[in-house]
Amino acid sequence: MEIVIRADEHEVATTVADIVGGYVERGNAILGLATGSSPLGSYQELARRCREGELDFSTASAFLLDEYVGLPKDHPQSYFSVIRSEFVDHVNLDPTRVLSPNGEAGDIAGEGRRYDAAIAAAGGVDVQLLGIGTDGHIGFNEPGSALTSRTRVKTLTEQTRKDNARFFDGPEDVPHHVLTQGLGTINEAGHLVMIALGAGKADAIAAAAEGPLSAFCPASVMQWHRHVTVVIDEPAASKL
Ligand code: GLP
Repeated sequence: MEIVIRADEHEVATTVADIVGGYVERGNAILGLATGSSPLGSYQELARRCREGELDFSTASAFLLDEYVGLPKDHPQSYFSVIRSEFVDHVNLDPTRVLSPNGEAGDIAGEGRRYDAAIAAAGGVDVQLLGIGTDGHIGFNEPGSALTSRTRVKTLTEQTRKDNARFFDGPEDVPHHVLTQGLGTINEAGHLVMIALGAGKADAIAAAAEGPLSAFCPASVMQWHRHVTVVIDEPAASKL
């Protein structure tokens, strides 16, 4: 695991854009996209490079990590909508090649299997962006998630619902259930790139990078992976 500590959010974004841009330049990149605030600067930097003709996403495709169950796709906080408004709408990436779990599927258990099969059929994710929850979750794999889990339904903890309430009108509007790529699914990506900003993530980053490999800190599953880059600012690195 390589840990890159950068001075501020802008430098974190530049470093992540350099890594992702490398895959995009090779052509036919399969990107793994994450929502949340941590990757936003990186998305803006990638969009700038695309606008200025430095990067061409026309042959890329993407898979999203997770989705709320029961939110319509056109709800502004569905991850389907968020990833479009925050990233896809600002680059020349074909939106029909940006796939996400369908949180409105009639057969939710079957949807997890279908999604994993779609990732496998595409040849797997080349580079997977990840944020980290304050409790160490990645995607929506809350503590206690099996380290080999596949895409499936999970129930959010109260802490995560509280953390994500800022995106909704009130805490009671945050859905209780989600579909998320499993820890086993995520670990099949060729390269994991974790982004964390701020002192609020310092404990989670220390547990993920230096704590025991344990389902109690789902992000620690990265210790099993051969190619991981953790790109963080100084406050997020303060407990390493
Ligand atoms: C949500 C997402 C995660 C994300 C986490 C942290 O729970 N499902 O993918 O990593 O939030 O979000 P933020 O980057 O806003 O702190």
